Formats: sequence, C-alpha cells, structure tokens
Amino acid sequence: MDRIRIVGGVPLRGAIAIGGAKNAALTLMPACLLTDQTLTLSNLPHLVDITTMANLLAQHGVSMALNGDSSQGSPTGRTLELSAATITNTTAPYDLVRKMRASILVLGPLLARHGQARVSLPGGCAIGTRPVDFHLKALEQMGAKIELDEGYINAHVKGRLKGAKIIFPQVTVGGTENTLMAATLAEGETVIANAAQEPEIIDLAQCLVAMGAKIQGIGSGTLRIEGVEALHGAQYSVVPDRIETGSYAVAAAITRGDVELTGTRMELMASVVKVLAESGVTITETERGLRVKADECDIVGTDIMTEPYPGFPTDMQAQLMALMTTAHGASMITETIFENRYMHVPEMMRMGARITVHGSSAIVRGVPNLSGAQVMATDLRASISLILAGLAAQGETMVNRVYHLDRGYERVEEKLAACGARIERLKGSD
Ligand code: UD1
Repeated sequence: MDRIRIVGGVPLRGAIAIGGAKNAALTLMPACLLTDQTLTLSNLPHLVDITTMANLLAQHGVSMALNGDSSQGSPTGRTLELSAATITNTTAPYDLVRKMRASILVLGPLLARHGQARVSLPGGCAIGTRPVDFHLKALEQMGAKIELDEGYINAHVKGRLKGAKIIFPQVTVGGTENTLMAATLAEGETVIANAAQEPEIIDLAQCLVAMGAKIQGIGSGTLRIEGVEALHGAQYSVVPDRIETGSYAVAAAITRGDVELTGTRMELMASVVKVLAESGVTITETERGLRVKADECDIVGTDIMTEPYPGFPTDMQAQLMALMTTAHGASMITETIFENRYMHVPEMMRMGARITVHGSSAIVRGVPNLSGAQVMATDLRASISLILAGLAAQGETMVNRVYHLDRGYERVEEKLAACGARIERLKGSD
C-alpha cells in the first residue's frame, strides 16, 4: 500500500487547479441510465471512485468513451460519453457496492427506466452506520415493491413509477438524488420536501433538465418534478469540487502561505469561507478562482458545527480540525451528520494535537507546533486532514494506508509539491 511522506514547515505559495466535484460526478454518471441516448460529462475528475462507478455502469450495459486527461494539464478535465442504449443487467453486485456507497445511486434510475433493480445493501463504513431507509421508503411511496433478501435490495414496479409527495424526515443527499432521478420518468408530479440543497444536487437537477426533465425549485428545499415519458442525451460540465477547494484552502492556511485556487468558485463554499475568515485567513475572488492568504495573520480558534448545505459540510470537518490544532486558543467542533467521524483525532494527537472528544463534540486547544509522526489514514477526509497536519508539523510525517485518498483527491502530492511542499508518495508493494 502506498504511503505519503511529508517534511512539514514550508509555507505554500503558488497556484492549484481544482477539478470537477467527485460527489457531483458520482450522481451525474448514473443519470445516464435514464435514457437510451448519450450523456456527455466534461470536467470529470480522475479518481478511483469514478473508475469504480464506470465499472458498475459497464456491467449494467453502459458503453463509455473517455477523452482528454486532466493529468496532462487539459483545462477541461476529462470528458466521458456514457450510453445506456440497452440495459443488459439490473444487478449491482456486493463486490462493487462495498467499494463505494454511491453505487446505491443506480437504484432509482434502473427502477424508473427498466422497472426493476437488484442492488446490494451498502452497509456501514468507517464514519457511521449510514442507512438507506429513506431512499427505499421514497421509492415505495412511488409505487415500487421492495424486498430485502440476502443483503440485496430487490425493487420492482409494474409499468411506470407514480408521482408522490415525499417528505424526508432528515436531509439526505443520496436519498434526494435517487428520488429526483426516479421522479423524472414517473407518471405525474413528485414533490420532494426537505430536499438536500447541496451544489451537487443542483448540478444533478440542471443536468436532468438538459436531458429533458421538468424540475422546479432547483436549489431550494422543495423540488417539484413533472415526470416525462423519456429523457434524451445531453452535454454537461461537472461543477468544481468545493471540498477539494476547501481542503487546499486549509493547506494554504495551515502553512501560513498564500495560494490561488483556480477553476473554482467562492459561492460554492460560503460557510467554509466564513469559518476561515473568522479564524483570520483572507480569501478573495480572483479572475481564475480565489486566493487564500494566511502569511501575515494569526490563526485563532473558531467554533464549527457540521450541518446540511448551506451549513458547514461534514466533508470539511477533519480538515478544519487540523487547522484548529495550530490556532491560538480553543475551538469547539460539533459533528451532527455522522456518529463516528472523529477517527482522525487519535492520529492527530500522535502528532502533538490537544483534542478532547465528548460525544459528538471535540474541544481542540491549539498548540504552537505539531510534530511529525507515523499516522494511519482511516477514511477519505481523515486522510487529507493528516496530510494537512503533516504540512504544518515540524519534521517528518508518514501517512500510511493512503488508498482512501485516491478515491477523492487527484494528484494531491503533485499539486502540493508545485506550491513548495516537501511531499512524496512512496509506492507500496501490494
Ligand atoms: C453525506 C453528506 C454529504 C457528504 C457525504 C459523504 C449531508 C447531509 N450529507 O451524504 O454532504 O458528501 O455524506 O461524506 O451532509 N440517513 C438515514 N437514512 C437514509 C439516508 C440517510 O438515516 O436513508 C441519515 C444518515 O445516517 C446521516 C444523514 O441522514 O446521518 C445524512 O445522510 P445522507 O445525506 O443521505 O448521506 P450521504 O448521501 O452519504
């Protein structure tokens, strides 16, 4: 398994290009199952999770053509043509679903277009139990018959799904995506109340509209979808990744550097910008994206609570905690989305961080210096947070088990090294 070695203490300076959003791409790709025509997605990031989704779609019968390569510096990232002219198989097997929870997003489209789907239950993961009961209840309300057997969700519908009023008891990003896709081909109107409002949902809704779907209320908590008989092909560019943007903004801040993040937009991450500004970092818009400047400031402790969008994202909690370990004063971080998302805490403590966890809250008391150590990455965002801590720490940090990182960050060590970081990947033998 690969490891990442960092010798910390260099303020980052330069520019970093931000790619297309992983979480948007992972919901846009299964949308191709809703039509027999070609869906072309540009600004696609080059990530392991994208390959896993491509493999899953291929075994449903989707043919794909990939053009461009962002690793060669193409400004538009990669472009993927997906064509589900015929769906040859409606089973999403355990071996693929267990690798990536977003696989559950084939359920709604398969059911809506083909009347049946058999999808392995995703199960829990390092950050929590993560049930999918809201997805299943919504599809049942739309007329699907759903049974669970041998770890699989078996879903059927006679004819088309029927429009329904879905009220989610709690905001669910995946649940909103599955229901929205299913509703585009349902008979009649579907209303999704308490819908998630994340930029990735807006991206999905806009892509579906480009494919001929009728959706109102995009970007609000209530989506109204008038089902149509068929969708058609479209071309769509994936929104910039707000979590990658936020992660590199923290890289600039934690090293007290000055970095321009290009190809991204401030408005996608207002809550993160607010927290960084409160802690003393200056963020300004530039022609190419935004500039994060922390070379002449004192970072001060700031309280954070994760919430559904537009609140502070759970996917940025670990990175902000890394920054807060180096701040003046104390911060309180509260995680409200997942029950077990502090796996990075003991690893940061091995680097000298002072953190106390009480239930869903963590008190972080800033220290003058972190010190390099051997640490273990446990999930995607924990992995990047340990790299961020390593960039600030004195001496050498070795982040082990970095395969999670490649699921969500493209060429991370190259992007950081180009801004002066002393970072390298050590290839493992397995
Ligand atoms: C969540 C995050 C998303 C993030 C992703 C990966 C939120 C609201 N969602 O999306 O921003 O990118 O993780 O880290 O911040 N739940 C149920 N039953 C369900 C579905 C969800 O109880 O059927 C609960 C979950 O356990 C969780 C909450 O609802 O506590 C939100 O889950 P959901 O938004 O669906 O999770 P993801 O789509 O994975």
